[in-house]
Amino acid sequence: MSSLKWWEHAVIYQIYPRSFQDSNSDGIGDLNGIISRLKYIADLGVDAIWISPFFMSPQHDFGYDVSNYCDINPEYGNLSDFDQLIEKTHELGLRLMIDIVPAHCSYLHPWFEESRKSKDNSKSDWFHWVDPKPDGCPPNNWLSFFGGPAWSWEPRRQQYYLHNFLPEQPNLNHANQEVQEELNNVARFWFDRGVDGFRLDAVHTINGDCEPYKDNLADPNFTLGPLPQDKQPFFRQLHDVAQLNQPVIQKFSEAYRRIADEYEGDRFLMGEVNGDEGNAMTVSKTFSEPGRLHATYNFDLLEWTGLSVSEIKGAIANAIEAFNGSGRLCFAFSNHDVPRSASRQLSPLGITLDKQDDLQLLLLQLETSLIGSSCIYQGEELGLSDVTNIQFGEMKDPWGLNFYPEFLGRDTCRTPMVWEKNKPMGGFTLANEAWLPISELHMEKAGLDMAKSEGSIYNKFSSFLKWRRKQPAMISSNKMSELSGGPSEIIFDRESETQILRCKFDFGLVKATFEEVTHGTS
Ligand code: GLC
Ligand code: CA
Repeated sequence: MSSLKWWEHAVIYQIYPRSFQDSNSDGIGDLNGIISRLKYIADLGVDAIWISPFFMSPQHDFGYDVSNYCDINPEYGNLSDFDQLIEKTHELGLRLMIDIVPAHCSYLHPWFEESRKSKDNSKSDWFHWVDPKPDGCPPNNWLSFFGGPAWSWEPRRQQYYLHNFLPEQPNLNHANQEVQEELNNVARFWFDRGVDGFRLDAVHTINGDCEPYKDNLADPNFTLGPLPQDKQPFFRQLHDVAQLNQPVIQKFSEAYRRIADEYEGDRFLMGEVNGDEGNAMTVSKTFSEPGRLHATYNFDLLEWTGLSVSEIKGAIANAIEAFNGSGRLCFAFSNHDVPRSASRQLSPLGITLDKQDDLQLLLLQLETSLIGSSCIYQGEELGLSDVTNIQFGEMKDPWGLNFYPEFLGRDTCRTPMVWEKNKPMGGFTLANEAWLPISELHMEKAGLDMAKSEGSIYNKFSSFLKWRRKQPAMISSNKMSELSGGPSEIIFDRESETQILRCKFDFGLVKATFEEVTHGTS
């Protein structure tokens, strides 16, 4: 029925593998665990799965610090488990996307272990090595997302190296052609195994050709307000003139696109990109120009403290202006990096706790009614709330550990899924302990229990997704009207050649309605 490519309208279920399902009683989710839950995902009615990193890694950033891109961390399984996973996913009619981290690797990757040894080894130029200033300081004022300078000292080279995230995540030097070729081989390795696409991590933080390492500028609009970000010096700077979003990154996106195009079956490249305040849409457009990434992941609905109705409208209106008629963007209300939407959105929308489930369903329906693809983070289909009672001694996220107690980091949205209320540990693991605590609050919304319960968000959302698949206006065209509606409504039409669907999201009644209208109806 649809003339669009699958990724132009896909609903993608995001799995954080460490917290999805444990199969071997070590308290850590794994690939076999995912296999055992594939039916639950397929029954929901999504089109694809994206799995956050499961590659070889010392887990300083829980997999976003890769020490071997072409093998699997034993905690998560092995390559033959992965082959099984891909086969079973395809058997259920779902596509499989994995998460490639091109900007940085682990400090334990053999590339970095070699590079850091001396100034004249075979990989000496694979990372960003810079001499100190005469006073011994790092070359410029760049800061790391996770706190502290973006530079760490290597005594053996008497030089600093660049890391936009943890010191354990050195940034690769994309100006080096050998680095690009190695990353190209990574793409081929996973495409050959049959994956349908990549979510490309933090692409805007790729660096190459950085010299002369200009300073970032102070953000003139920065004020020390109540937001968790305000407490972090990184967010006092503007990054797009020096540290991030440099034109050299497009060499990477073009190389990856050429490889994706060599394969049959519409392999999909979705880039996580961001920009300074006001620049994010331009960045998204630049990355998704012809010959580059197919789509970019839109951050505008992921705001840490939540959004009001008018802010949600603003975010959607910006996306319509930049992308209407195309499927080149992907929306998300939640992911493994921000507090869960079911909690985060209550107060900015003035909605009381008793309506939390209705609101979560409304947000899911809104997100999957927009143009382009959308990502549903594990547990969103259950309306799981954010877990804010994790003790300091149980916290795992390095970002949270650096900024506690002002900022709790990302553990709050990463606690393990629970599946059956009556099983120990909610059925996540047979061990007595999981890598992060399991939330008692989540037990009332255990996945398999909810899938059996008729009125659950899972089932209502599932019916919606199955209905959505049959609407030409949703899946055979990517056009939508301007937004309308009063202060507590978002109304728009999705339009195809054969159907106009009026989509109305009422945040007062906390209810979405969908109505077929004919041309000329207003
Ligand atoms: C992305 C990931 C995040 C990770 C960071 C560094 O933003 O979503 O989880 O920590 O990149 O790789
Ligand atoms: Ca396990």
